[in-house]
Amino acid sequence: MKDFRQRVSNYKNLELKMKKKIVILPGDGIGKEVTAEGKKVLEVIAEIFGHEFSFEEGLIGHEAINATGNSLPEETLSKLKNCDAILFGAVGHPKYDNDPTLKVRPEQGLLKMRKELGLYANLRPIKLFDELLSASSIKPEILKGSNILFFRELTGDVYFGEKGRKDEGATAFDLMIYQRYEIERIAHKAFKAAQTRKKKVTSVDKANVLESSRLWRETVQQVGKQYPDIQLEHLFVDTAAMKLIQNPRSFDVVLTGNLFGDILTDEASQIAGSMGMLASASIGDSVGLYEPIHGSAHDITGKGIANPLASILSVALMLDISFGMKKESEVIIKAVEQTLKEGFRTADIADERTLSNKILKTAEMGNKVAKQLRDKLALDSTVLQTASYNASIS
Ligand code: IPM
Ligand code: MG
Repeated sequence: MKDFRQRVSNYKNLELKMKKKIVILPGDGIGKEVTAEGKKVLEVIAEIFGHEFSFEEGLIGHEAINATGNSLPEETLSKLKNCDAILFGAVGHPKYDNDPTLKVRPEQGLLKMRKELGLYANLRPIKLFDELLSASSIKPEILKGSNILFFRELTGDVYFGEKGRKDEGATAFDLMIYQRYEIERIAHKAFKAAQTRKKKVTSVDKANVLESSRLWRETVQQVGKQYPDIQLEHLFVDTAAMKLIQNPRSFDVVLTGNLFGDILTDEASQIAGSMGMLASASIGDSVGLYEPIHGSAHDITGKGIANPLASILSVALMLDISFGMKKESEVIIKAVEQTLKEGFRTADIADERTLSNKILKTAEMGNKVAKQLRDKLALDSTVLQTASYNASIS
């Protein structure tokens, strides 16, 4: 009996202190600058909670093309297949945007990675920090209280359908294609998430025009029957685009395809005040990938002024979703909130009321959040006690 108790308690200790291997893919542009701050926060969390995080880096995007000729080298891919989670920065370079004839492009690396790792569900939470109500171009009274979770399908649609040219290049096509199982698996994820939230799913399609959308709607309706506790609403994508800024509070979980999701989540980022604040998780068959929704932002690259909060909030998503570390995730969000409450801003979220000595550079913002975490946790020892409690009952 004593032996058994001993083993249980050893097991609990093991559970408390987790060992995780994280691959960091800084990618292009501001990707390097923001993932460095995400890593900083991971290191603080490991130190405070006693976890062991090891880090490896990989090449992707324009950087990888420069070094190897390939936007997602085999070496990177094999690292990704042998880790517990991925922290990703961004890919892209203006050189490719302005020359559509180039055959090798940074974005191909990102798309290949999504496909190869089976990352079919892209979660984009649109969470508005009250302190940033005035940073948005939408009226505060419309925005206040908005909280939307997007489920964007990520490995199908026009992104991966057959594409090509005919008529000696004068005609081009990208096939919009969906299979039932692809819709079913992400629909289940969206309905399950809604059960833990306000119990509403809005499925977005263009079923009045597109056959693939009719399959989408039919499939979502069928899956929805298994979740009688969830209110299911269908919107056409044009209407959804309008309603998002007309009445963002009417949304809870939004479920949509790859292309519509790409467009609607950029639009919805305005509900959160700035693209610089939005984190995302891509999950599916095995490992999870976490990244800001903003891109490589070459206009500000190297200036050290990019907002690292989306990367830091992506780390919070990683801890919660991939590692089940709810408390660790929560304290990061609290630390970000507190940093904003104290008036600190990066340039993109500053406004006329921001004091000039509170406008921080990228690394300074990372340091503020890290310090906030240390101070908060040092003062509030109950946080750690709760953390052990949660780990031991789960
Ligand atoms: C995104 C990006 C990518 C996409 C690009 C870089 C290929 O816009 O993650 O939203 O379209 O999926
Ligand atoms: Mg996009």
